[in-house]
Parts: sequence; C-alpha cells; structure tokens
Amino acid sequence: MIKFNVNGRAVAVDTDGDTPLLWALREHLGLTGTKYGCGGGFCGACTVHVDGKAVRSCRTPLSAVAGSDIGTIEGLSRDRSHPLQKAWITEQVPQCGYCQSGQLMQAATLLESNANPTRDEIVRHMNGVICRCGTYTRIVAAIQRAAKEG
Ligand code: FES
Ligand code: FES
Repeated sequence: MIKFNVNGRAVAVDTDGDTPLLWALREHLGLTGTKYGCGGGFCGACTVHVDGKAVRSCRTPLSAVAGSDIGTIEGLSRDRSHPLQKAWITEQVPQCGYCQSGQLMQAATLLESNANPTRDEIVRHMNGVICRCGTYTRIVAAIQRAAKEG
C-alpha cells in the first residue's frame, strides 16, 4: 500500500511500487485528466506536480512519490478559476485538447516561481511539452495573459 496526497486528499494505492504514477492516477484513482502520450518521458502529456515540481508521471514510479503531495489538472482549480485556465479559455488555446492538461500543469509551475516571465523564459520552460496540433503561439499568449491578469 503506497500512501500519498492527491489534490489535497490523502489516498492509498494497493499496487506494485514500480507502477507508474500515471497508471495509479488514471486507473486506481479515476483521475483521467492526465493523459498518456508516449509513455517514455518525451511528450509531457502526463505532466503533474509532485511537491510543486512538474514531473512526467509516466516515468515516475509510485514508490518515488510515497508521502508526496501530487497535483493534477483536476486540482488546479475546482471551477476553472485559475488564471491560466481563464487565459486558456480567452485565448482559445486547445485544438484536439489531448496535450492541454500537461501544458497547463507545466505552465503553472512557471508562474509559481516567476510571476512575470519573459517570452523566452516561457518558451524555455514549456519546451518539451509537445502539441501535435501546434497551439504553441496561443500557449505563449495565454501564459503572458495569465501573468498580466493573474
Ligand atoms: S506520456 Fe509521459 S512524457 Fe509522454
Ligand atoms: S491541442 Fe491537440 S495535441 Fe495539443
């Protein structure tokens, strides 16, 4: 039994410690907002927060997160009120939507540490979260908007 917190709630998952965190979130805890893309740590679709850091949950074994605080897209806000969520809607960022929870979770860690990032800082921080629909320009615009209106 591996215990940790997800979006402020204590949970316990009865499975092997080698199980990826992504599997536990989706299959054991029913939090399907976090997506499976490549499974190899290359695309960022599975990005969640572990103790405030953006990590690829497909490559994070459950044994590594025992006792940690996990944040998923479901916990970013309960009512779409997070500045990034509002900016995402205003800028009409998503296309197919598949990568977007990873994009938002990655972006959230930037604004936590840097409330007013430059364009270059945004691009650098978001590098590695792939969008096959090519929404990158809108993602940058939305992060800039969230920083301004936050
Ligand atoms: S699914 Fe985890 S990085 Fe692609
Ligand atoms: S919106 Fe389709 S992959 Fe990013």
